[in-house]
Amino acid sequence: MKNRVSNGVMNMRRDTDVLLDEKRIFKPSVETVERAHVKNWETELEKGKDFKKYWAEKAEQFEWFQQWDEVLDESNKPFYKWFVNGKINLTYNAVDRWLDTDKRNQVAILYTNERGHERKITYYELYREVNKLANAFKNLGVKKGDRVSMYLPMCPELLISMLACARIGAIHSVVYSGLSVGAFVERINDAKAKVLLTADGTFRRGKVIDLKKISDEAILQCPSVETVVVVKHTGTPIEISELSGREIFYERLIEGEPAECEPEPMDSEDPLFILYTSGSTGKPKGVLHTTAGYMVGVATTTKYIFDIHNDDLWWCTGDIGWITGHSYAIYGPLLLGTTTLIYEGAPDYPDPGVWWSIIEKYGVTKFYTAPTAIRHLMRFGSKYTRLYNLSSLRILGTVGEPINPEAWMWFYKNIGKEKAPIMDTWWQTETGMHLISPLPSAPLKPGSATMAFPGIDADIVDEDGKSVPLGKGGYLVIKNPWPSMFRTLYKDEQRFQDVYWDQIPGVYKAGDMARKDEDGYFWIQGRSDDVLKIAGHRVGTAEVESAFVSHPAVAEAAVIGKADPVKGQVIKAFLILKEGYQLKTKLIEDLKKHVRYELGPVAVLGEIEQVETLPKTRSGKIMRRVLRARENGEDVGDTSTLEE
Ligand code: PRX
Repeated sequence: MKNRVSNGVMNMRRDTDVLLDEKRIFKPSVETVERAHVKNWETELEKGKDFKKYWAEKAEQFEWFQQWDEVLDESNKPFYKWFVNGKINLTYNAVDRWLDTDKRNQVAILYTNERGHERKITYYELYREVNKLANAFKNLGVKKGDRVSMYLPMCPELLISMLACARIGAIHSVVYSGLSVGAFVERINDAKAKVLLTADGTFRRGKVIDLKKISDEAILQCPSVETVVVVKHTGTPIEISELSGREIFYERLIEGEPAECEPEPMDSEDPLFILYTSGSTGKPKGVLHTTAGYMVGVATTTKYIFDIHNDDLWWCTGDIGWITGHSYAIYGPLLLGTTTLIYEGAPDYPDPGVWWSIIEKYGVTKFYTAPTAIRHLMRFGSKYTRLYNLSSLRILGTVGEPINPEAWMWFYKNIGKEKAPIMDTWWQTETGMHLISPLPSAPLKPGSATMAFPGIDADIVDEDGKSVPLGKGGYLVIKNPWPSMFRTLYKDEQRFQDVYWDQIPGVYKAGDMARKDEDGYFWIQGRSDDVLKIAGHRVGTAEVESAFVSHPAVAEAAVIGKADPVKGQVIKAFLILKEGYQLKTKLIEDLKKHVRYELGPVAVLGEIEQVETLPKTRSGKIMRRVLRARENGEDVGDTSTLEE
């Protein structure tokens, strides 16, 4: 295909030539603009050019225990510091701050699930719950800087425990409840968590998934964990006698704890959380976010991109086990004093109308979801969408991967009824907040994340860091610091520098390929590294390969992404089997089970193929690029480094 950028291009599943022909433009309605905090998009972008001033103004929305001396310290790049010497507490700002306002008795968390159970927690109730748990954590010996891990479903206790950590300065490290034993152990041990919170299970498509069983097995390999707190969430009976010595029920733990706990004055740069994500090599990266800058970035983007007002009901479907849930299901909305809806369940159970029924029932006004879910639900046409009144919706959003124009149009017409604009937000675990996104007053093009947020300097460059001409593909980079940027990779500063900052000196290399069109709109094409995007989840090819080779039948493995109409990508694996093994049905089933056990259902296996050899460089590195080209029937390109 002509005009395609080399490197990384094989990872792309979008035909960018077609995309650049996408000329439709959707202007915001008069009502949307009239309501918007930012009525003129371009003026706001202009204001953002003085980015330190811009972010300093935004930081003033919070209550600080001590004002910062300097907005940004750039003396030790890329180890930037924001709001230097400020003292602040996130939980105080997300919860206590609302108690003296008319939000005191407003619902902070609206939890519901596939069984129709419902729990509404007001800001005042949340304050009490968080403080009780914070006190209980202290009794367990948790101190500022200690790590607390959660392996919990989408339940109120997950939000409460994260806020309780932030209150006392403990660093939370949530492990997505869809990950399995291998991934769990690796994350908890890297973080050396002192306390783990888990639950008896989670509701999924009419079943209860036994999380405790997975956690029981994993925890045997996690020596740092002193206490396991068990939330009785699904009502599956567990007797106290079934608990081991280091386990305690959540309700028992907080029993009798006072509902007041002084918030810890945190330095702006004190760590807030670690969240693991996949990279090009086998070991997951512990992305570390700190306190003040993160708060400023997520609150500002939530407010402006989703135009949050007092009467909003906000629903982000992203799981809290990922950055989307951290930034936009919990922290962004609570820092603005809005109500956040938390739903535990699948988008198509009991039927594919369940999300739309929830929007109607509660009157959701802002709805933020993933392209993969939209593609899945659009297969049912308007069969379910027309059963519900979705007129409460004012703004829609997507995140996690590029949205194809067909899915965008379906979402726009069937869900937004052509009046709710779609905010296609590009960002990453590392960036903490949206970096490229429209604002509601911007004209939209289906499939484009539009422009960098005010204060953000994004560009497309070649390998030497030179800007490429409009329309040409290249590496997506960010040229100036932003407040909610990650500060390092936990215990791995070298990798932090190598992967993100040293490859194209002086700028942040995001790991995505992108183009800019003649209007300056960004079109994200996909990852430039060996990371797959499966249903919006980031899965490292090396992680999957090491899961394969830990199976006794496998000698060597190489995996690539294969395009999938709903999930975006699924895994295609090439395996060299050990002598005596043949890839028969039984072994295929066994291999699938094994990978699922190691990594969880996020690693969706498409095909497995047995091969005799794998293309490698002379230094022994697998050339996945060659496999991808072969798979797609494309030209293999330069193979001069290929081993004979
Ligand atoms: O490839 C980009 C894709 O998701 C990657 C980040 O993944 P993760 O850290 O798991 O965070 C996902 C949620 C923020 C990016 O490098 N991505 C994210 N949003 C978009 C996107 N690709 C295209 N368009 C987006 N809106």
